[in-house]
Amino acid sequence: MAEELIVNPCLQFQPYFDDSTSFLLYAPKPGSGMKYLVVKRDEYPNVFDVFLDLSASRFDFLDPELDLDEADRDLLVENGVLVNSAESPELPLFSCQLSEFDPFQGDFDLGSLIAHPGIRFSPFDLGNFHSISQELHISPFSASVWIRDDLTGIEQGIWLSDSDAEVVSRLTASRSPNFPIDIDLARRLISAGILIDPLELRRVSQLRGNEIEVAQAKFQKDHYSVLKELFPGVQMRAMQRYYRAYVANGFMPFGDDQVERRYREHNEPFARLLQNQFASLMSLIAGVDVKLSYVYAASYVGGSVLAPHVDRKQCEYSISFQVDYEPEPPSGISPWAIYVTPLLGFDDAAARGETVTLAECERQAAAADPAAVNLANGDGLFYMGRELIHFRNELPDGHRSTSLFFHFVSVDFEGPLD
Ligand SMILES: [Fe+2]
Repeated sequence: MAEELIVNPCLQFQPYFDDSTSFLLYAPKPGSGMKYLVVKRDEYPNVFDVFLDLSASRFDFLDPELDLDEADRDLLVENGVLVNSAESPELPLFSCQLSEFDPFQGDFDLGSLIAHPGIRFSPFDLGNFHSISQELHISPFSASVWIRDDLTGIEQGIWLSDSDAEVVSRLTASRSPNFPIDIDLARRLISAGILIDPLELRRVSQLRGNEIEVAQAKFQKDHYSVLKELFPGVQMRAMQRYYRAYVANGFMPFGDDQVERRYREHNEPFARLLQNQFASLMSLIAGVDVKLSYVYAASYVGGSVLAPHVDRKQCEYSISFQVDYEPEPPSGISPWAIYVTPLLGFDDAAARGETVTLAECERQAAAADPAAVNLANGDGLFYMGRELIHFRNELPDGHRSTSLFFHFVSVDFEGPLD
């Protein structure tokens, strides 16, 4: 019914500087993905006039019943500009709350624990409310504490209630708390890694250091390697929550030139925040100083196929970071393998500046014995996507797989980064 329709609260209006006779409307359409509609004055005169007029004030002043005819309404519903008021989209914001960590159950002596050496307290701040939520897609609604892993450079954010923030703000990195802490809160701070036993910290660091050494050697030899559990399970569940809601609310466009059946977004804001944190680890694994090129967030649905291919030059060093797989595999490991095999003749093709065709990648992949890489949520595949042909077979119906692709280039790379 037309009277239930409202203008999508997330609608964006974009004029064209070189063409005053058209503009772009785009909006997330729940269940369908981001929709883009070019409105040309010649083609849709009434929609053009009404929305140009509203762009100077507010789109929610529109009365769809009075201002539009039925054909206009159908067009705008189809393109997500008008939505049913009960189904209007909302931008999800990432947060991982301290309350999501199960309290540590063992015995401990508070005096022997220290605050993690990599903690950084971020107070609640009305001043950056807008930029945090709109540019990073993280929750601005409370204080948070960030724990940076010294070896990987990866930071995990933990959001705090007002009373918990008061306690955490008093902690000093690498120091024992010199004030009493409520036992239940202390148990959660331990399980979140905010308070830690220095011996345990050393043990975990040594293990991670060994894993990195193994991954470095494997990368040198095979141009790919895997690092496991780059974020703890509680953080991964928070990421799953964010990306499931982000896709369900329609914020990611559906389909692209490479894969028809995936939701995807170039430089999706939360993925971009994570990519910053992965740069030093990528450099460490590759043994080369790298800089960010771009990040791609993708949520594949049943029927998706990733054909054998090699990547473009903006993707010299990449990480495929597994976020989510549905239905949840009993082993925790995604059954949907990424296959990799070396591109034969890479050096010759690179020297001649040639692009390797998909047909050639297909031919080589069929003749090779590719390695299957199966990741659990939170694992990252580090790889050189220009030198390795990589692909995935068809994702079964009803399954869904969400990954982030962090792409990097050498610091001396001079071309466009997008
Ligand atoms: Fe690729």
